Formats: sequence, C-alpha cells, structure tokens
Amino acid sequence: MSDLTLRFKGQKNDVVQGVNLRVRRGEVLCVVGESGCGKSVTSMAIMGLLPPNSAQISSGKMRISSDEWDLVTDRLPAELRGNKIAMIFQEPMTSLNPAFRIGNQIAEVVQRHQGGTRAASLDRAEEMLQRVGIANPGQRLREYPHQLSGGMRQRVMIAMALANEPQILIADEPTTALDVTIQAQILDLIADLRDETGMGTIMITHDLGVVAEIADTVAVMYGGQVVEQGPVEEVFRNPQHPYTIGLMSAMPRLDKPGERLAIVPGTVPTISNMPDGCRFRTRCAFATSYCSKRPSLSDIAPDHSVACHYAPLEAHVRVSA
Ligand SMILES: Nc1ncnc2c1ncn2[C@@H]1O[C@H](COP(=O)(O)OP(=O)(O)O)[C@@H](O)[C@H]1O
Ligand code: SF4
Ligand SMILES: [Mg+2]
Repeated sequence: MSDLTLRFKGQKNDVVQGVNLRVRRGEVLCVVGESGCGKSVTSMAIMGLLPPNSAQISSGKMRISSDEWDLVTDRLPAELRGNKIAMIFQEPMTSLNPAFRIGNQIAEVVQRHQGGTRAASLDRAEEMLQRVGIANPGQRLREYPHQLSGGMRQRVMIAMALANEPQILIADEPTTALDVTIQAQILDLIADLRDETGMGTIMITHDLGVVAEIADTVAVMYGGQVVEQGPVEEVFRNPQHPYTIGLMSAMPRLDKPGERLAIVPGTVPTISNMPDGCRFRTRCAFATSYCSKRPSLSDIAPDHSVACHYAPLEAHVRVSA
C-alpha cells in the first residue's frame, strides 16, 4: 500500500498522512504505536471499510501481486475480500452475524470463494475451529455467536478469516482480549499459515512480546505517519526515531511475555492540534526550530528508514558515558 493520506470530514488535518506499508510473501509486518495514531483507520482504508461520506481519501494505492487499485476512486474489489485479503478486527461482532450459526457463516465464506459442496465447506469450518483451539468444534458449528464467550467469538472470527488461506491477512490487535495460552496458539497458527501458504500478514499490536515473537519487519506509527520502518532485529537493536527509542525503552523479555509499549512522556495532540512539520515535536527531547519542517522517511541503512531530521542520532548527539 503506498502513500495513503486521508482525513475525516470537518477536520483540518490529515488523520493518516503519506503512509506506505509493504509486506512480502511469507512475512509478518507488525505496526506499532500509541492508541489514536491511525493504525485502525489505515487498515480499514485498505479494506475499503471506512464510511465513504465522512472519510476523505486524498491519495493511496494498493497492490496485491498483479492486482492494483486506487484507494481514492476504488474500493477493495469484492472478489478479493475474504479471499486474497482478509481482516481480523479488535471487535469480533464486526464480522459475525448474530442471526446465523457460526458453522454456516464460515462455510458460506469458504463456499463463496472456493466453490465445492456445502458438506466440504462445513468440514473446512470444523477443521479451522479446531486449529484456533476450540474444543468440540463439531458441536460449536451449530451454535450462534451469542452462545460463545468473547474469546471464543474472537477465535471464530480468526478461523473465518483464515479459512480461505488469504494472501494477505490484516490483523488489528487480534489477540489483545485473549488469554496468554490462546494468544500463543493464534500466533502459532498465523506463523504456520505463513509457512504453509506464503501468507503475508500486517499485524497491528501494542505488545512488543508479540512483535519480538512473530515480526519480520516493523513499522512504527505516530500521529498518522510512519516514523520508522525496518527489519525487526535492526529496529529493536538500533532504534533511531526518538519516538521509537521511547517506545522501546521497555524491551520485551522472553521471561516477561506481554510486555507493553513503554509510556512516552506527554500525550498525543488531537488531530486538530497536530503541529506542522514533525508531528512528534511537541514531545521530542531533541526538537529544534528546524523540526517545524516535515522530515521525510529516508533510509539510514538498507531497508531501515526513519523520519527525523537528526537520524541517525549518534551523528548529532554526543552521548556521555
Ligand atoms: N469514523 C471516524 N470519524 C472521525 N474520526 C475518527 C473515526 N475513526 C477514527 N477516528 C479518529 O482517527 C484517529 C485514529 O484512530 P485509530 O486509527 O482508531 O487509532 P489506533 O487504531 O492507532 O488506536 C483518532 O484520532 C480517532 O479519533
Ligand atoms: S524531526 Fe525533530 S522533533 Fe521530529 S523526531 Fe526528529 S528531532 Fe524530534
Ligand atoms: Mg486501533
């Protein structure tokens, strides 16, 4: 996805500005950043799910292998949704219909994209429920969403999203509400499908433990912009944007799973109060008057890019021992 810029009607600033995200086959890209920085809006824009009367997309292009479309004029083609590209939401009821049995809902999606018999689609639904760790899947197939716990509904939605082996999966904080064991099982399932089918995943998460476990590359967002992007080992070992450095100051540790992003002092300005230039400058310890000019995302190493006038920092800041 390239150069996504959009704002909501009535706002004077873009809520997402010039965002590029790229995920290769068989890779997991994790998108991190504080709440409100535009992660969900970005994924909804990719899926064509923003309300067209209030969300105004001024630029953005999407490409999946040879399929390309302009997000300004076109929505995600229906034949690709749920097939080539699937999404898992924070809130499972967004994609479950309360009026239908869950087996029928999953089977319907499978049959729509893959054809085959009803019985074969129901078998696939049962297999997927098993893979997301639901006990007695044959029985659960006949239940309605309200008969399941929240965590189970979340897993049903994940099963439904993965049933057609999409080329791209967008997962918006999919495991936040799940307990640690189930969370690990879902991450394993995503990793298995990546290996089996070459699925590329864009995973939005607050959890650096998840990033450390599953990401190949990471994109850090602040104020609707990508401020740093690169291979996960490189960004963890050598974070260069002052915001990333703040977030990473609580590094994930294998003995402490589920460690969240560190708190960066101050709060994110609201969209209408976003400063010009570098949007992080109201909170940045390194800010100068030059930062009223917007920094572009530039490479500081192969595949590692940073949007800061002073990156790499060690070239500008003397660190005393
Ligand atoms: N439908 C909407 N109308 C107006 N503003 C919205 C809408 N949806 C999200 N926003 C605003 O867009 C910004 C980014 O939100 P979001 O993408 O949900 O953040 P994140 O997922 O990173 O926590 C927030 O300031 C939010 O209030
Ligand atoms: S451009 Fe300036 S304000 Fe922005 S992160 Fe870099 S030093 Fe801080
Ligand atoms: Mg969100």
